[in-house]
Amino acid sequence: MLLSQEAYKRIDRELAKYPADQRQSAVMAALAIAQDEKGWLAPETMQDIADYIGMPAIAVQEVATFYNMYNIKPVGKQKITVCTNLPCALSGGERMGQYLQDKLGVGYRGTTEDGQFTLVEGECMGACGDAPVLLVNNKRMCSFMNEQKIDALVEELKK
Ligand code: FES
Repeated sequence: MLLSQEAYKRIDRELAKYPADQRQSAVMAALAIAQDEKGWLAPETMQDIADYIGMPAIAVQEVATFYNMYNIKPVGKQKITVCTNLPCALSGGERMGQYLQDKLGVGYRGTTEDGQFTLVEGECMGACGDAPVLLVNNKRMCSFMNEQKIDALVEELKK
């Protein structure tokens, strides 16, 4: 048992949404809960989720490695995902990504030396009309980004 009791209770609530023979349907939610608590999904955490749900560890790994919202390596306290798919790229996404790389002093997949920020490239987030967009810690969407808004965001996240 690698997670807190509270985390397992949350996973139990997700499992209760599905029939007993469909427990694997809760795997994405379970991984998100584990990641919220641990910050990233270490192999032993994925194994723990597999054991808890009752599915093969390899199947859990396949889910965790397919979706880039899951961190399969340690990340900084704040993960900023920049959408660089075409609509965003054509609307300043590439420029915003470069601006963030210069500002933070790291490339994509890099983490700042103080462990505060990790910067990653992301796929379309379904918000192309708000391009360019960023996602903070997989949950907070930031729309119509520009240099000033990035400056303000980074300052806010440092606090
Ligand atoms: Fe960026 Fe769709 S291309 S949200």
